[in-house]
Order: sequence, then structure tokens, then C-alpha cells
Amino acid sequence: MSDVSKAWNIDDLRRMASRNVPKHFVDYLQGGANSETTMQSNRSNFAWWNLKQKVLAGIEENATDLGTTYLGERHQLPVLLGPVGFAGMYHRNGEIAAGRAAEKAGIAQVLSTFSIASLEEVAQSHRGSLYFQLYVFRKRELTEHMLERCRKAKIHTIFLTVDTPFAPVRERDERNGFRARTTLSPGMLLSMLRHPLWCIGALANGMPSVGNCRPYPELGKSLMEQSVNLGRMIDPTLAWSDIRWLRDRWEGKIVIKGILDADDARRAIDEGADGIVISNHGGRQLDPAPSTISVLPEIARAVGGRTEILMDGGIRRGADVLKALALGATAVLIGRAYIYGLGAGGEKGVTRCLDLLREEMRPALNMMGFPTIDQLKLAGSDALRLRAPFASTSRLAENDATAGETQNAHVVAIRGSNVA
Ligand SMILES: Cc1cc2nc3c(=O)[nH]c(=O)nc-3n(C[C@H](O)[C@H](O)[C@H](O)COP(=O)(O)O)c2cc1C
Repeated sequence: MSDVSKAWNIDDLRRMASRNVPKHFVDYLQGGANSETTMQSNRSNFAWWNLKQKVLAGIEENATDLGTTYLGERHQLPVLLGPVGFAGMYHRNGEIAAGRAAEKAGIAQVLSTFSIASLEEVAQSHRGSLYFQLYVFRKRELTEHMLERCRKAKIHTIFLTVDTPFAPVRERDERNGFRARTTLSPGMLLSMLRHPLWCIGALANGMPSVGNCRPYPELGKSLMEQSVNLGRMIDPTLAWSDIRWLRDRWEGKIVIKGILDADDARRAIDEGADGIVISNHGGRQLDPAPSTISVLPEIARAVGGRTEILMDGGIRRGADVLKALALGATAVLIGRAYIYGLGAGGEKGVTRCLDLLREEMRPALNMMGFPTIDQLKLAGSDALRLRAPFASTSRLAENDATAGETQNAHVVAIRGSNVA
């Protein structure tokens, strides 16, 4: 465990986690697909926008409210812990520790199908908002059975991940043989032995496994076997008709995760989704796919107001969250950021990650002239300023005859996102 009070930003947590956790898990967490262009642009494209500073706003002390409503519930931050497979390999009882931190921060947790703790175990230890991330499997009975388990565990909201029908090449994992093998390689073993404290935590509950696979012995016993076999079960022929199929079987909320296109977003609503997550899986699937922040304005313009728009990808700073909200997101999911916290210091590390985001968001929001997140959302993209090379201001750029097509497309999309 590292002293997470010495982490002054999420990158510090990343460095701490990298020291505590074996290399193949660090690479799995930090890596993306192919040339990692999408993963990098998820981060770098946030720089397209600046926050507009508004002074003398007379904001009362204690008037600041970072809370907002998403998925029908009021939360204390416009943030969710996103689904991250194998979170329990970054700290003992990782999913449960993350859930506790989420609960204390007053936000929701989305549990991955590929979690180490089972959904029942996490639900039992959770008094806050818990959602479950699901796949449609080749054997529909498996998906139906997981839905039934969610019902019994009193989980009412499902995130259906739709951007993983094909397995991309993640070169860091390929080099380590991670998720392709069903047994540990000598390199993995060596790296684990170099982290004895990690080993004690990882083995504290016996040999680690994919907790949600325990009722299905045919998927294997070890973590690696189960993860390969369950991965192969994800149905590559997934189609829009499957959303209807799921809608007919699930009375709770359905959020479709992995949307990057405005037509797909419209279709998701038409097929009965209650929300979408604009996501490219953290740049881990199609590469080069567009960054999520770059498509958010046009998707918000297409569907804003008709559904909840969540987004994720590259959120590492409070300002990133504010930009996403101004561009039409209801709230954002974080992935790697909180797993860095988990690897750095368990529950305390996740809490530190959320504290850092909160403490960056609060002064920035006030300096933009807003006491509350809800007021920022009302202002929409007027609260931002497009940076060069796109434009000096959004309105100027729109009238600027020399502005390029890309620039105009962004400006039009951004103005439209005010509708949301
Ligand atoms: C190590 C890792 C494992 C992930 N596992 C899942 C998963 O099991 N299910 C899922 O829907 N998304 C998964 N994701 C994607 C995240 O939910 C999220 O979309 C992504 O991490 C957001 O990007 P960020 O990490 O830059 O915040 C995973 C991401 C990472 C980094």
C-alpha cells in the first residue's frame, strides 16, 4: 500500500499502483488497442476546449453543490465508477473496497461481469447505488441467468456493453500472454513473486477467480481459464434485435455502453434503452476510433433530452468532468483513474481519486461563475471556449469564412448540444 495522501493528482496514483501491482496487470490496465491512438486522443482531445472564466459572480460560501441526478437518483458527484474487469486483482476485495469508497462519496458503482467478487458479494456489502454491467452471451440462458441473479441481488440497472463483439489486439497484453493463455507464464509468475504483498492480498480469499462464473463450472476454475472461456462466450453476432430481446426480459433500466455514433444513439433509444454511455472502452477496442469527447456534442445534439447521456474515456481531471457536462453529458464514468487509486491504496486510494476530482471540480466550477453542477449543465457549451486551432470563440468560428470543415462541424455540433 502506498501513502495515497501524497498523491496530488491521478497520475501520482497511477505511478503508485504501478509499483504495487505485477507488470501484466499494470499493462492490462494502462494499455489500449493497436497503436493506442484512440486511448491517447481520449485524453488529448479534452484540450480542444477551455473553461470560460466568469468573475465577480458573488457565489455564496457553502452554496456550491456538485451533486446531480443520474439514472433516476440524486448523487453527490456527476461521476460513476465504471465497470473494470479484474478490479479485485488490483487490491484485496477490490470491487468491494471500490464500492465502499463510492458509497461514501455518494456516487454509483457499475460492477463488471469480469469482477473477482461476485455480484452477490458486492451487492451484500453495498448500501449505495449498484449497477451491473452485462454482456449478451452466445448462450442466451447464461445472460438470462445473470439477469435473474441481479434481480435477486436487488440490482435494478443494467449496463449492456456492446462494443466488445470482437477481440482487438492489445499489444501490451500480447507480449505478456495475458488473457490469451489459460495458465500463468514464467514471466507472469516472476512478476507476481516480485510483489509479495500483492500476492498475500490476491490469495487472501484463496485462488482468485471470476466471481460471477462460480455458478458455471463448465467455464473452468482458474481466473485465466474462466476469463478466456467467458470472453469466448460473448456473442459476436449481437444485433439491434438483441436490445429488444433484453428489453422484453428486463423490467429495470437498460443503459447501452459503447455508443460512438449519433444514429446508433437514436436507435438505442428507439429500441428501448433508458440511457447510453458514449464510450470506446477506454480506447481498448476499435483503434483508431474517435475520442469520446469529440463525438459527445453531436450525439447530445441528436438525442439530448430524450435519454440520459453518460460518457467515459480519459477522465483524469476535474476540468474534464466539467467539460463533458457542458457538452451534454448527464454524468461521466471513470475507469482507469479509480483503479489506479485501488492499486495504490485500496479503498483509501479510490477515495483519494474521488477527492482529487472533487477538489479540482469545486474551484473550477465557481471560477466559471456557477455555484452548482446543474447550473453548469443549463449553460451548456456556452460555458466553454473552443481553443485554437478550431476557433477563437465558437460564434466567431461559425462566421469565419476561413474556418475549415472540421472546425465548423465541431462548432455546429457544440451549439446543438445546448439543447441537452
Ligand atoms: C482494465 C480495464 C478493464 C475493463 N473492463 C471492462 C469490462 O469488464 N466491461 C466494460 O464494459 N468495460 C470495461 N472497461 C472499460 C471501462 O468501463 C471504461 O469504458 C474505460 O475504462 C473508460 O476509459 P478510462 O479508463 O480512460 O476512464 C475496462 C477498462 C479497463 C481499463
